[in-house]
Amino acid sequence: IPIKAELILDILKLKEEKNAVILGHNYMEPALFTYVPDYKGDSLELSRKAANTDKDVIVFCGVVFMAETAKILSPDKTVLVPSLDAGCSLAESISADDIKALRELFPGVPVVSYVNTYADVKAESDYCCTSGNADRVMKHLGNDTVIFLPDRFLASNVADQLGRRIIFPEKKHGKFTGNFTDRYGKTIDARIDEPASWKGAVIGWDGRCEVHEKYTPDDIIRVRQQFPDVVVLAHPECPPEVIKEADFAGSTSAMIDYVQKTQAPHYLLMTECSMGDNIMAANPEKDMLRLCSVRCPHMNQISLEQTKTALEELRYQIELDEDLRKRALLAVERMLAL
Ligand code: 13P
Ligand code: SF4
Repeated sequence: IPIKAELILDILKLKEEKNAVILGHNYMEPALFTYVPDYKGDSLELSRKAANTDKDVIVFCGVVFMAETAKILSPDKTVLVPSLDAGCSLAESISADDIKALRELFPGVPVVSYVNTYADVKAESDYCCTSGNADRVMKHLGNDTVIFLPDRFLASNVADQLGRRIIFPEKKHGKFTGNFTDRYGKTIDARIDEPASWKGAVIGWDGRCEVHEKYTPDDIIRVRQQFPDVVVLAHPECPPEVIKEADFAGSTSAMIDYVQKTQAPHYLLMTECSMGDNIMAANPEKDMLRLCSVRCPHMNQISLEQTKTALEELRYQIELDEDLRKRALLAVERMLAL
Protein backbone atom coordinates (compact mmCIF):
# COMPACT_ATOMS: atom_id res chain seq x y z
CA ILE A 1 0.00 0.00 0.00
CA PRO A 2 1.58 3.31 -1.02
CA ILE A 3 2.24 6.04 1.50
CA LYS A 4 -0.66 8.51 1.38
CA ALA A 5 -2.89 5.87 -0.25
CA GLU A 6 -6.02 7.60 1.00
CA LEU A 7 -5.01 10.88 -0.58
CA ILE A 8 -4.18 9.13 -3.84
CA LEU A 9 -7.56 7.37 -3.88
CA ASP A 10 -9.34 10.69 -3.19
CA ILE A 11 -7.55 12.25 -6.17
CA LEU A 12 -8.46 9.37 -8.48
CA LYS A 13 -12.12 9.56 -7.36
CA LEU A 14 -12.25 13.33 -7.86
CA LYS A 15 -10.66 12.89 -11.27
CA GLU A 16 -13.59 10.69 -12.36
CA GLU A 17 -16.18 13.03 -10.83
CA LYS A 18 -14.77 16.08 -12.62
CA ASN A 19 -14.12 14.23 -15.91
CA ALA A 20 -10.47 15.25 -15.67
CA VAL A 21 -7.23 14.00 -17.13
CA ILE A 22 -4.04 14.34 -15.05
CA LEU A 23 -0.75 14.97 -16.82
CA GLY A 24 2.42 14.44 -14.78
CA HIS A 25 5.86 15.71 -15.70
CA ASN A 26 8.78 13.33 -15.17
CA TYR A 27 10.02 15.55 -12.30
CA MET A 28 7.00 14.93 -10.06
CA GLU A 29 7.76 13.45 -6.62
CA PRO A 30 7.61 9.64 -6.58
CA ALA A 31 4.26 9.09 -4.78
CA LEU A 32 2.48 11.49 -7.11
CA PHE A 33 4.36 10.36 -10.23
CA THR A 34 3.74 6.65 -9.65
CA TYR A 35 0.04 6.62 -8.86
CA VAL A 36 -1.70 9.78 -10.04
CA PRO A 37 -1.10 10.83 -13.67
CA ASP A 38 -2.99 9.32 -16.60
CA TYR A 39 -0.04 10.33 -18.75
CA LYS A 40 3.56 10.93 -17.73
CA GLY A 41 6.24 12.45 -19.88
CA ASP A 42 8.44 15.32 -20.95
CA SER A 43 7.19 18.74 -22.05
CA LEU A 44 6.73 17.67 -25.66
CA GLU A 45 4.83 14.45 -24.92
CA LEU A 46 2.55 16.15 -22.40
CA SER A 47 1.75 19.03 -24.75
CA ARG A 48 0.68 16.46 -27.37
CA LYS A 49 -1.55 14.76 -24.77
CA ALA A 50 -3.04 18.13 -23.79
CA ALA A 51 -3.87 18.84 -27.43
CA ASN A 52 -5.75 15.56 -27.87
CA THR A 53 -7.77 14.96 -24.71
CA ASP A 54 -11.56 14.64 -24.73
CA LYS A 55 -11.86 15.33 -20.97
CA ASP A 56 -13.37 18.59 -19.64
CA VAL A 57 -10.55 19.35 -17.20
CA ILE A 58 -6.77 19.06 -17.58
CA VAL A 59 -4.81 19.00 -14.31
CA PHE A 60 -1.19 19.72 -15.14
CA CYS A 61 1.15 18.36 -12.47
CA GLY A 62 4.11 20.36 -13.69
CA VAL A 63 5.10 24.02 -13.71
CA VAL A 64 3.00 26.99 -14.84
CA PHE A 65 4.51 27.39 -18.32
CA MET A 66 3.56 23.75 -19.04
CA ALA A 67 -0.04 24.33 -17.96
CA GLU A 68 -0.09 27.47 -20.11
CA THR A 69 1.05 25.42 -23.11
CA ALA A 70 -1.86 23.02 -22.45
CA LYS A 71 -4.27 25.98 -22.42
CA ILE A 72 -2.76 27.35 -25.64
CA LEU A 73 -3.53 24.01 -27.29
CA SER A 74 -6.87 23.30 -25.60
CA PRO A 75 -8.59 26.65 -25.00
CA ASP A 76 -12.02 25.11 -24.39
CA LYS A 77 -10.82 22.94 -21.52
CA THR A 78 -10.49 23.99 -17.90
CA VAL A 79 -6.72 23.80 -17.37
CA LEU A 80 -5.51 23.66 -13.76
CA VAL A 81 -2.08 23.90 -12.21
CA PRO A 82 -2.03 22.82 -8.53
CA SER A 83 0.26 25.71 -7.44
CA LEU A 84 0.87 29.13 -8.95
CA ASP A 85 4.27 29.17 -7.22
CA ALA A 86 5.52 26.55 -9.67
CA GLY A 87 7.62 28.95 -11.76
CA CYS A 88 10.85 28.30 -13.69
CA SER A 89 14.09 30.30 -13.73
CA LEU A 90 14.24 30.04 -17.52
CA ALA A 91 10.69 31.30 -18.04
CA GLU A 92 11.41 34.21 -15.65
CA SER A 93 14.56 35.18 -17.57
CA ILE A 94 12.87 36.73 -20.61
CA SER A 95 9.85 38.95 -21.32
CA ALA A 96 7.81 39.73 -24.43
CA ASP A 97 9.43 43.20 -24.44
CA ASP A 98 12.87 41.58 -24.56
CA ILE A 99 11.86 39.77 -27.75
CA LYS A 100 10.49 42.99 -29.26
CA ALA A 101 13.84 44.64 -28.51
CA LEU A 102 15.74 41.73 -30.12
CA ARG A 103 13.55 41.94 -33.21
CA GLU A 104 14.42 45.64 -33.57
CA LEU A 105 18.12 44.84 -33.29
CA PHE A 106 17.96 41.86 -35.67
CA PRO A 107 15.18 42.61 -38.18
CA GLY A 108 13.89 39.59 -40.10
CA VAL A 109 15.80 37.05 -37.97
CA PRO A 110 13.48 34.19 -36.84
CA VAL A 111 12.97 33.69 -33.10
CA VAL A 112 12.85 30.18 -31.62
CA SER A 113 11.65 30.06 -28.02
CA TYR A 114 12.15 27.13 -25.71
CA VAL A 115 8.88 25.81 -24.31
CA ASN A 116 10.16 26.96 -20.87
CA THR A 117 8.75 30.46 -21.53
CA TYR A 118 5.44 32.11 -20.69
CA ALA A 119 2.63 32.48 -23.24
CA ASP A 120 3.36 36.18 -23.94
CA VAL A 121 6.91 35.26 -24.98
CA LYS A 122 5.67 32.42 -27.19
CA ALA A 123 3.23 34.90 -28.77
CA GLU A 124 6.20 37.03 -29.93
CA SER A 125 8.10 34.01 -31.27
CA ASP A 126 8.11 32.27 -34.66
CA TYR A 127 8.74 28.77 -33.36
CA CYS A 128 8.54 26.99 -30.05
CA CYS A 129 10.79 24.02 -29.26
CA THR A 130 11.45 21.61 -26.41
CA SER A 131 14.59 19.78 -25.36
CA GLY A 132 13.17 16.84 -27.34
CA ASN A 133 13.04 18.63 -30.69
CA ALA A 134 15.28 21.73 -30.53
CA ASP A 135 17.70 20.25 -33.08
CA ARG A 136 14.82 19.36 -35.43
CA VAL A 137 13.40 22.89 -35.27
CA MET A 138 16.84 24.40 -35.89
CA LYS A 139 17.54 22.08 -38.83
CA HIS A 140 14.17 23.01 -40.31
CA LEU A 141 15.22 26.68 -40.23
CA GLY A 142 18.44 25.99 -42.14
CA ASN A 143 21.82 27.57 -41.60
CA ASP A 144 20.84 31.23 -41.57
CA THR A 145 20.93 33.42 -38.46
CA VAL A 146 18.47 32.33 -35.74
CA ILE A 147 17.66 33.81 -32.35
CA PHE A 148 17.34 30.93 -29.86
CA LEU A 149 16.22 31.76 -26.33
CA PRO A 150 16.22 31.94 -23.36
CA ASP A 151 18.48 29.03 -22.26
CA ARG A 152 22.14 29.86 -22.99
CA PHE A 153 23.23 26.27 -22.35
CA LEU A 154 20.56 24.56 -24.43
CA ALA A 155 21.32 27.05 -27.23
CA SER A 156 25.06 26.32 -26.98
CA ASN A 157 24.48 22.57 -26.90
CA VAL A 158 22.21 22.64 -29.95
CA ALA A 159 24.65 24.94 -31.78
CA ASP A 160 27.51 22.51 -30.98
CA GLN A 161 25.43 19.55 -32.14
CA LEU A 162 24.73 21.28 -35.46
CA GLY A 163 28.24 22.72 -35.85
CA ARG A 164 26.98 26.31 -35.61
CA ARG A 165 28.59 29.41 -34.11
CA ILE A 166 26.83 30.81 -31.04
CA ILE A 167 27.09 34.40 -29.80
CA PHE A 168 25.27 36.50 -27.22
CA PRO A 169 24.25 40.17 -27.48
CA GLU A 170 26.18 41.82 -24.64
CA LYS A 171 24.08 43.57 -21.97
CA LYS A 172 25.35 45.91 -19.26
CA HIS A 173 23.08 47.40 -16.60
CA GLY A 174 20.09 46.01 -18.52
CA LYS A 175 21.04 47.69 -21.83
CA PHE A 176 22.51 46.23 -25.02
CA THR A 177 26.03 47.57 -25.57
CA GLY A 178 26.10 46.82 -29.32
CA ASN A 179 28.79 44.17 -28.81
CA PHE A 180 28.55 40.40 -28.62
CA THR A 181 30.13 37.96 -26.20
CA ASP A 182 31.09 34.34 -26.70
CA ARG A 183 29.71 31.55 -24.50
CA TYR A 184 32.28 32.36 -21.78
CA GLY A 185 31.14 35.98 -21.53
CA LYS A 186 34.18 37.38 -23.37
CA THR A 187 33.54 40.31 -25.72
CA ILE A 188 34.20 39.25 -29.32
CA ASP A 189 34.98 41.00 -32.56
CA ALA A 190 31.43 41.42 -33.85
CA ARG A 191 28.98 44.35 -33.67
CA ILE A 192 25.21 44.43 -33.87
CA ASP A 193 25.41 47.34 -36.33
CA GLU A 194 27.62 45.26 -38.65
CA PRO A 195 25.32 42.43 -39.82
CA ALA A 196 28.15 40.78 -41.78
CA SER A 197 29.86 40.08 -38.42
CA TRP A 198 26.97 38.00 -37.04
CA LYS A 199 25.35 36.59 -40.17
CA GLY A 200 24.76 32.82 -39.90
CA ALA A 201 25.25 32.70 -36.11
CA VAL A 202 22.89 31.35 -33.48
CA ILE A 203 22.10 34.35 -31.28
CA GLY A 204 21.45 33.31 -27.68
CA TRP A 205 20.13 34.84 -24.44
CA ASP A 206 21.47 34.64 -20.89
CA GLY A 207 18.79 32.45 -19.27
CA ARG A 208 19.74 29.44 -17.16
CA CYS A 209 17.99 26.59 -15.43
CA GLU A 210 18.82 27.04 -11.76
CA VAL A 211 18.98 23.25 -11.36
CA HIS A 212 21.05 22.14 -14.36
CA GLU A 213 23.51 25.05 -14.25
CA LYS A 214 24.82 23.59 -10.96
CA TYR A 215 26.30 20.45 -12.55
CA THR A 216 30.00 20.48 -13.47
CA PRO A 217 32.30 18.18 -15.48
CA ASP A 218 34.11 17.41 -12.19
CA ASP A 219 30.92 15.79 -10.87
CA ILE A 220 31.21 13.27 -13.71
CA ILE A 221 34.99 12.87 -13.54
CA ARG A 222 34.84 12.04 -9.82
CA VAL A 223 32.17 9.37 -10.36
CA ARG A 224 34.07 7.87 -13.33
CA GLN A 225 37.17 7.48 -11.11
CA GLN A 226 35.17 5.21 -8.83
CA PHE A 227 32.94 3.59 -11.49
CA PRO A 228 34.82 3.62 -14.84
CA ASP A 229 31.99 1.75 -16.57
CA VAL A 230 29.25 4.19 -15.54
CA VAL A 231 26.97 5.53 -18.29
CA VAL A 232 26.28 9.23 -17.78
CA LEU A 233 23.07 10.84 -19.01
CA ALA A 234 22.61 14.62 -18.98
CA HIS A 235 19.75 16.99 -19.74
CA PRO A 236 20.69 19.52 -22.46
CA GLU A 237 19.99 22.38 -20.02
CA CYS A 238 23.36 21.42 -18.42
CA PRO A 239 26.43 23.49 -19.38
CA PRO A 240 28.19 22.34 -22.61
CA GLU A 241 31.25 21.19 -20.62
CA VAL A 242 28.97 18.71 -18.79
CA ILE A 243 27.34 17.51 -22.02
CA LYS A 244 30.82 16.87 -23.48
CA GLU A 245 31.70 14.63 -20.50
CA ALA A 246 28.39 12.75 -20.66
CA ASP A 247 27.60 9.66 -22.78
CA PHE A 248 24.09 10.74 -23.74
CA ALA A 249 22.11 13.99 -23.72
CA GLY A 250 18.37 14.16 -24.19
CA SER A 251 15.01 15.26 -22.84
CA THR A 252 13.75 13.81 -19.57
CA SER A 253 11.81 11.10 -21.44
CA ALA A 254 14.74 10.37 -23.76
CA MET A 255 16.89 9.69 -20.68
CA ILE A 256 14.23 7.41 -19.19
CA ASP A 257 13.98 5.48 -22.49
CA TYR A 258 17.75 5.17 -22.63
CA VAL A 259 17.90 3.58 -19.18
CA GLN A 260 15.01 1.26 -19.97
CA LYS A 261 16.44 0.08 -23.29
CA THR A 262 20.08 -0.44 -22.28
CA GLN A 263 21.94 -2.68 -19.83
CA ALA A 264 24.79 -0.77 -18.23
CA PRO A 265 26.51 -1.72 -14.96
CA HIS A 266 25.73 1.74 -13.52
CA TYR A 267 23.93 4.91 -14.60
CA LEU A 268 24.46 8.48 -13.47
CA LEU A 269 21.80 11.11 -14.18
CA MET A 270 22.67 14.79 -14.49
CA THR A 271 19.18 16.11 -13.96
CA GLU A 272 16.86 17.00 -11.12
CA CYS A 273 16.63 14.39 -8.43
CA SER A 274 12.99 13.29 -8.29
CA MET A 275 13.42 11.90 -11.77
CA GLY A 276 16.29 9.76 -10.49
CA ASP A 277 13.98 8.44 -7.76
CA ASN A 278 11.26 7.69 -10.32
CA ILE A 279 13.65 5.80 -12.61
CA MET A 280 15.02 3.84 -9.66
CA ALA A 281 11.49 2.84 -8.63
CA ALA A 282 10.61 1.74 -12.18
CA ASN A 283 13.90 -0.15 -12.76
CA PRO A 284 14.83 -1.77 -9.43
CA GLU A 285 17.30 -4.12 -11.15
CA LYS A 286 19.41 -1.21 -12.48
CA ASP A 287 22.10 0.56 -10.50
CA MET A 288 21.37 4.28 -10.47
CA LEU A 289 24.26 6.10 -8.83
CA ARG A 290 23.16 9.01 -6.68
CA LEU A 291 24.20 12.55 -7.45
CA CYS A 292 21.01 13.93 -6.15
CA SER A 293 21.98 17.36 -5.02
CA VAL A 294 19.32 19.41 -6.74
CA ARG A 295 15.54 19.25 -6.54
CA CYS A 296 13.73 21.79 -8.75
CA PRO A 297 12.08 24.10 -6.18
CA HIS A 298 9.31 24.88 -8.66
CA MET A 299 8.37 21.30 -9.50
CA ASN A 300 8.54 20.69 -5.75
CA GLN A 301 5.52 22.98 -5.26
CA ILE A 302 3.25 20.35 -6.79
CA SER A 303 2.17 17.94 -4.06
CA LEU A 304 -0.56 15.33 -3.70
CA GLU A 305 -2.35 17.67 -1.29
CA GLN A 306 -2.30 20.56 -3.77
CA THR A 307 -3.45 18.26 -6.57
CA LYS A 308 -6.44 17.12 -4.52
CA THR A 309 -7.39 20.73 -3.72
CA ALA A 310 -6.95 21.66 -7.38
CA LEU A 311 -9.61 19.10 -8.33
CA GLU A 312 -11.93 19.90 -5.41
CA GLU A 313 -11.92 23.64 -6.01
CA LEU A 314 -11.05 23.65 -9.73
CA ARG A 315 -8.05 25.85 -9.00
CA TYR A 316 -5.76 27.36 -10.23
CA GLN A 317 -7.30 27.95 -13.63
CA ILE A 318 -5.07 29.13 -16.45
CA GLU A 319 -6.66 32.02 -18.36
CA LEU A 320 -5.10 33.57 -21.45
CA ASP A 321 -6.09 36.55 -23.55
CA GLU A 322 -7.53 35.07 -26.77
CA ASP A 323 -5.46 37.18 -29.17
CA LEU A 324 -2.27 36.35 -27.28
CA ARG A 325 -3.22 32.66 -27.14
CA LYS A 326 -3.75 32.50 -30.90
CA ARG A 327 -0.36 34.10 -31.56
CA ALA A 328 1.35 31.73 -29.13
CA LEU A 329 -0.50 28.81 -30.75
CA LEU A 330 1.16 29.58 -34.10
CA ALA A 331 4.62 29.05 -32.59
CA VAL A 332 3.54 25.88 -30.75
CA GLU A 333 1.73 24.42 -33.78
CA ARG A 334 4.70 25.05 -36.05
CA MET A 335 6.76 22.98 -33.61
CA LEU A 336 4.20 20.17 -33.32
CA ALA A 337 3.89 19.99 -37.12
CA LEU A 338 7.59 19.11 -37.51
P1 13P B 1 11.80 18.13 -20.62
O1 13P B 1 11.03 18.75 -21.75
O2 13P B 1 13.03 17.43 -21.09
O3 13P B 1 10.90 17.29 -19.80
O4 13P B 1 12.38 19.30 -19.71
C1 13P B 1 11.60 20.17 -18.98
C2 13P B 1 12.38 20.85 -17.96
O5 13P B 1 11.93 21.79 -17.35
C3 13P B 1 13.70 20.35 -17.66
O6 13P B 1 14.29 21.08 -16.66
FE1 SF4 C 1 12.72 25.31 -14.92
FE2 SF4 C 1 15.02 24.08 -14.36
FE3 SF4 C 1 12.90 23.60 -12.86
FE4 SF4 C 1 13.00 22.67 -15.38
S1 SF4 C 1 14.32 22.10 -13.66
S2 SF4 C 1 11.26 23.70 -14.40
S3 SF4 C 1 14.10 24.36 -16.40
S4 SF4 C 1 13.96 25.60 -13.06
